[in-house]
Amino acid sequence: MGMKPSYTTISMCRWLCVLLISWLVVPFPAQCWWEQGHQVVARIAARHLTPAAQLRISEILDIANTPEAVADALAAASIWADQVKADTGTGNWHYIDLTLQDGRDNIPQRCENDDCVTARIRLFAGQLKAHDPDSDSRWSDQDALRFLVHFVGDLQQPLHASSDADQGGNCETLDPAIGQAKNLHALWDGALVSALGADDNTLASDLETEIVGLTDDQRSDFAGGDENDWAWESHRLATVNIYKHFEIPKEDIVFPASCSQAPAEIRAMAIHVDDGYVEAMKPIVREQLMKGGLRLAKMLNEIFG
Ligand code: ADE
Ligand code: ZN
Ligand code: ZN
Repeated sequence: MGMKPSYTTISMCRWLCVLLISWLVVPFPAQCWWEQGHQVVARIAARHLTPAAQLRISEILDIANTPEAVADALAAASIWADQVKADTGTGNWHYIDLTLQDGRDNIPQRCENDDCVTARIRLFAGQLKAHDPDSDSRWSDQDALRFLVHFVGDLQQPLHASSDADQGGNCETLDPAIGQAKNLHALWDGALVSALGADDNTLASDLETEIVGLTDDQRSDFAGGDENDWAWESHRLATVNIYKHFEIPKEDIVFPASCSQAPAEIRAMAIHVDDGYVEAMKPIVREQLMKGGLRLAKMLNEIFG
């Protein structure tokens, strides 16, 4: 009895310590539009596919060629990129860190080695369009489609195209937390989408009703532009409705690898989000989701047309 329990206790302690330390040192993973936003974008896109695009997507995802099956499969495909992010080292592909000092012309500079969301949208769209079975790409066409659906969604989230030495708002704490969101980035990734209510299917239908009510010009405006236009639009939204609104100081152009390395001013922020802010942002979040869906559909229709 003497040795064994004490060995067990030591080994348990060791495991607890390892768990505790890894929990403390591993940076909190940046969430991405969480699941609901991505699924809504995918479901809206599915409703705007040409028959040719719907057919190719059903083949790539290996499901029946019906509107319902394609919508369900595209929604499921939309969250895969977050699930493989850590294991594949593709975390940087989900955003582009445009600073508050940047202009549109700085987009290439903030995307060195194509290690950002705008480049990956362009490259995966190119891979799907080329449809080259002999390509030695690391990624299959199914992977390329799953990345594309996810990244077009991410890019409509204003903080996925912005940084103020704060990892796109991951480093500013909310006081108090809003639902599960403990920081500004999580507020925009998840809490503001959840605030729109309903599950992804219901929300997508609700937004589709709004899309049907748009004029043709409004609808093609929503669907228009390319990945650089979308990044710039998201960045403008973040500048006005997040950084200016919450009076977050403009920091030097630095990109801290973790929030513990962020400037003290950023780490000291305790942002109070009131109901008025959530209500005021709802139309913007709805519009970004509608745009994401229409932009994705337009891209897929062009690729598979
Ligand atoms: N990590 C660093 N910058 C980020 C951003 N803009 N969005 C999400 N994660 C990030
Ligand atoms: Zn995110
Ligand atoms: Zn993401």
